[in-house]
Amino acid sequence: MTNIAVFASGTGSNAVNLVRTFNSGNRIHVALCLTDKENAPVIEKMRELGVETLYFPRSVWKENPQEIIDTLHAHDIKVIALAGFLCFLSADIVNAYEGKILNIHPSLLPAYGGKGMHGANVHKAVIEAGEAKSGATVHVVTNEIDAGPIVVQREVAVLPDDTPESLEAKVHEVEYQIFPEAVIKTVAALTPPAVPKSVDDAWAEALGVPNNVPPVPEHNQANFTNTTGQANQTAAPINPMNPTNPINAMNPVSPAMGPLKAQATQEPMPPTYLVWSVVMTILCCTIPGIVAIIYSAQVSSKFYQGDFEGAHRASRNAEIWIIVSFVLGVITNTLWLPLSIAGMF
Ligand code: GRF
Repeated sequence: MTNIAVFASGTGSNAVNLVRTFNSGNRIHVALCLTDKENAPVIEKMRELGVETLYFPRSVWKENPQEIIDTLHAHDIKVIALAGFLCFLSADIVNAYEGKILNIHPSLLPAYGGKGMHGANVHKAVIEAGEAKSGATVHVVTNEIDAGPIVVQREVAVLPDDTPESLEAKVHEVEYQIFPEAVIKTVAALTPPAVPKSVDDAWAEALGVPNNVPPVPEHNQANFTNTTGQANQTAAPINPMNPTNPINAMNPVSPAMGPLKAQATQEPMPPTYLVWSVVMTILCCTIPGIVAIIYSAQVSSKFYQGDFEGAHRASRNAEIWIIVSFVLGVITNTLWLPLSIAGMF
């Protein structure tokens, strides 16, 4: 089990989503929520979910970061997720968790990032600029605002009738997908070796990076010194499609992959073909259709478990069984029709 902490200053819908995604599984656990806002709505939400939540005034964050670091160590925190965290994060904290602090930003970074670009400001600027697309980005925290290595990024379409509020709702939906994915990748890259080397190759392939990169020594990794978390205070619904326990079977990975490898990808989920599977089950041949549905359902669960190769395999199998169902359906109907017409006479 890997403990992570969430830092949040506002509504906390991303924090809630991380808890709901991970805390019913046995791989990653949101063990702690820290906030710099005494009355932040996230506090009550975390308490309802049974997550220990502590408030530290800004003076502590600024002048006594060691108190924060000690608290994190006392809870055995390995990775930190900034989910709408508005407070300045001291270099001491960033150094203590170098490469292991993720921030979520509501745009396609590097676009619409940096000073002043947070919450509604971002969505307003995107719409005013007439952009056709926006999105969300999870990146590693660095000394430059919103400029660290991108871990996962996903687009949403901006439609002509979108308002900053409707765009924000759409961006929140993709945030609920990509933040857990980014945490899984970061935790997977920290996990000690427990598998044969060939799994490294599989992960390298899944992550879309060459597997001949030597391990990055701790002291040589990117020199992360500072960050600013971005937040907005607008309530957003929790994604009802959110898997509650996607991480139980997460693959371990050698540290030779290193955090930098995990950051170097934006693995898209392969198609599930679920609609086609259901259509084929109803209209064509039932049994292969059901097999296709089973494979379709495996695509997203494997993907969220970090088993990218398994997700691609399930997607291909679903496609094959859809074709089988279609072909058998055509053959059966072709035979059945003349026979039933003949039976009428
Ligand atoms: C999110 O849009 C995130 O991108 C930004 O702050 C917002 C937090 O929203 N950093 P919530 O509090 O998680 O609902």
